[in-house]
Amino acid sequence: MAPFIYAPVILAVYFASHFATSTSVPVVTGELDFKIPTLNTTGKTWYKIIGNLTSHQRPLVALHGGPGFDSEYMEILSNITTPRSGALVVYDQIGNGRSTHLPNKLGDDSFWTDGLFLSELDNVLSKLGIQDNYDLAGHSWGGMLAARHATSRPKGLKRLVLMSAPASIDLWVGAGNVYLKELPQNDQDIIISNEKAGTTNNTDYQKAITYYNTLHVCSIQPMPEPIAAGFAVMSSDPTVRRSMYGPLNFQVTGSLKGWTIIHDAHKISVPTLVTHGKRDQANQTAVEPLLKEIPNVQGVEFENSGHMAHFEEAAKFTRVVSKFLSEA
Ligand SMILES: *[C@@H]1O[C@H](CO)[C@@H](O)[C@H](O)[C@H]1NC(C)=O
Ligand SMILES: *[C@@H]1O[C@H](CO)[C@@H](O)[C@H](O)[C@H]1NC(C)=O
Ligand SMILES: *[C@@H]1O[C@H](CO)[C@@H](O)[C@H](O)[C@H]1NC(C)=O
Ligand SMILES: *[C@@H]1O[C@H](CO)[C@@H](O)[C@H](O)[C@H]1NC(C)=O
Ligand SMILES: *[C@@H]1O[C@H](CO)[C@@H](O)[C@H](O)[C@H]1NC(C)=O
Repeated sequence: MAPFIYAPVILAVYFASHFATSTSVPVVTGELDFKIPTLNTTGKTWYKIIGNLTSHQRPLVALHGGPGFDSEYMEILSNITTPRSGALVVYDQIGNGRSTHLPNKLGDDSFWTDGLFLSELDNVLSKLGIQDNYDLAGHSWGGMLAARHATSRPKGLKRLVLMSAPASIDLWVGAGNVYLKELPQNDQDIIISNEKAGTTNNTDYQKAITYYNTLHVCSIQPMPEPIAAGFAVMSSDPTVRRSMYGPLNFQVTGSLKGWTIIHDAHKISVPTLVTHGKRDQANQTAVEPLLKEIPNVQGVEFENSGHMAHFEEAAKFTRVVSKFLSEA
């Protein structure tokens, strides 16, 4: 189960690469200084820009899920931004992937809050100089973060896409437990007994979870490389995942326990698209409060998807989101 400040000048410390792809779309990667609130240190946020940030077209910023994934599996959204000559901005959130890791903060609930990641997003927007005009998409945990950002009504945010993002952690866990009861009895028994004992690092448990993931996370097998890479990144340094979600899959014990946006979603003032898959753990019930509370909202369910409609139904997903972003 996955996923889930100062001068507005580009202080990118260096450009790791700068090249043109076959269709001559510029791709730039770099790192931004991020003064970590509550810590007396400056970390780095690794980012990638696909396309021309200074074109007249509004850039799309994409937030990855996990928590604990990296941003590679969000790059597919360039299928949406490239045809409209816009830029896609993705970045690895602090603690993850190619950004600064903070293993000594493992288990520190007061550190790993959405406030930390909201500050990082503000820092990315202002250091890239796009804080006055951008669209935002977030997947899973990244969608929860995107929704939280939008409730503060930032003046530059124009359109919001919430991809497979539950309105609360309880709804997410609830749907997971409903799906769990639908698994073959043997898989259920393995998962339940191991989660109870806290023994998730064994082949039987991993096998049962892998089966669950093919049903409800991503039906494409083998998993597309960028998603598999995200899982690998998440387990190579479990700090963020463990601290925010916890060691188990069907229970949340980390800092996201009790997280909800249900009572704040009405503050989101920009046009919003809410997407989810039919077999998604962000099920219809879990996204319903977003559809009910956000004033200017539309919802699209992807019939043949779990949690990864942007891969599982990539062509339809690209079409739906492109249309939404180009509406006046
Ligand atoms: C923060 O770090 C700087 C340089 O490492 C040090 O000079 C300063 O005293 C530190 N401030 C606090 C409040 O710890
Ligand atoms: C990016 O867009 C701006 C404005 O349209 C243009 O002046 C510039 O040449 C473009 N840069 C690239 C690399 O295409
Ligand atoms: C989604 O999960 C909830 C449990 O949180 C369950 O009650 C509900 O029936 C599910 N909704 C759908 C549409 O399957
Ligand atoms: C999980 O088990 C494998 C093999 O038994 C071991 O190498 C690995 O360190 C364990 N990982 C954790 C997080 O306990
Ligand atoms: C989207 O982009 C990927 C590469 O990122 C490409 O393989 C794929 O064909 C593109 N189109 C669709 C509809 O997924």
